[in-house]
Amino acid sequence: MLPKRTQVAIIGAGPSGLLLGQLLHNAGIDNVIVERRSGDYVLSRIRAGVLEQTTADLLDEAGVGTRMRREGLLHDGIELAFGGARHRIDLCGLTGKHVVIYGQTEVTHDLMDARRAFGGITAYEAADVQPHGFDTATPSITWRQEGHTRTLACEFIAGCDGYHGVSRASIPASSITSYEREYPFGWLGILADTPPVSHELIYSNHERGFALCSMRSPTRTRYYVQCSLEDRVEQWSDEAFWDELRRRLDPEAAESIVIGPSIEKSIAPLRSFVGEPMRFGRLLLAGDAAHIVPPTGAKGLNLAASDVRFLARALIEHFMDRSDAGIDGYSDTCLRRVWKAERFSWWFTSLTHRFPDTGAIGRKLQRAELDYLVGSKAASTAMAENYVGLPFEDTTYNSPFA
Ligand code: APR
Ligand code: PHB
Repeated sequence: MLPKRTQVAIIGAGPSGLLLGQLLHNAGIDNVIVERRSGDYVLSRIRAGVLEQTTADLLDEAGVGTRMRREGLLHDGIELAFGGARHRIDLCGLTGKHVVIYGQTEVTHDLMDARRAFGGITAYEAADVQPHGFDTATPSITWRQEGHTRTLACEFIAGCDGYHGVSRASIPASSITSYEREYPFGWLGILADTPPVSHELIYSNHERGFALCSMRSPTRTRYYVQCSLEDRVEQWSDEAFWDELRRRLDPEAAESIVIGPSIEKSIAPLRSFVGEPMRFGRLLLAGDAAHIVPPTGAKGLNLAASDVRFLARALIEHFMDRSDAGIDGYSDTCLRRVWKAERFSWWFTSLTHRFPDTGAIGRKLQRAELDYLVGSKAASTAMAENYVGLPFEDTTYNSPFA
């Protein structure tokens, strides 16, 4: 039975909305999630699979990390392939941190199971969700379901509805500044029940284009090749995909890769996007609703978790301590970390992909930077720090070198 009122109305039941709902519930704060798709549809989306240590720790804090700790794969390094060879970046040796390989679908599954277990309310297949009055002290959301219009009064609205959601779109254009860069290529991704070609991820810079060898488990792999934005997934047979992937890998990987039928195949565009600020009165944006990164740096899910960590703390402080310091500082605190992840994701994409308009000198400059990167402890450390995830700065920024 849907209530007429809740403390926090959350729009979107992806990782951001579900994780926020869990953290708020754990703190005794009432919340309702309203999602336009079905739960099965949400679970069917194939997304990223690399969790920063801070994200894994946050799942533990939320009480949903047990399966991730049991089934997730601890990775201490990644490999960069270029010039026919592979070069390892020793993430753990350089930073003392590792990442956890655990599919986003599994994170979503664990969060949905936890929400069901505590009896959390999620209205799935909600049509025409609309936020109202978020510039007042009495916001609400409405939606249509089973032929009825529903209204939910609340004290805050969390816009966790992704890049194409209604939350950011409901903000007056004069109140938000958008920063966007679209990349001149896409990623063709394939999921297959085959063993990984290597025990760690391989990012390949090749003259034919970028390739990535990732995984979901010891028996399930996730591979990507850079493709044209004009490509349609129907044009790519499994055979064509595996052939192109092999061409972009070093000889050892190309020789040893185990291929098999695709269980999922799709093409996604790449973009960098940030909407500023992330708070509008009683509407607060989190995750893809506020920012998008190209997937190269595996930052999307981790940035969402970072926003949710700050937002949950701010809302708990409001309801429990009657302080709005966290709410008032939410946007600035998130954006400092968001922009650093945007920069890293743009840099790593620029370094590893083939850009038609940068010509032969562009590839020479990429190769020089890759040679420097793998040959310099300082450069490798800088990359590793960003890849494993930068520390949180919960308070106003104070440089460690100040
Ligand atoms: N009304 C209700 N729900 C909506 C609406 C709407 N108008 N528009 C979108 N949604 C739902 C989507 O169906 C989706 O389930 O909001 C959810 C948004 O989820 P994501 O797009 O996954 O965004 P987020 O939860 O922020 O996750 C961020 O995790 O998805 C991965 O790596 C990916 O970067 C992404 C990160
Ligand atoms: C994935 O496994 O989907 C993945 C891994 C690392 C990335 C991007 C995607 O950088």
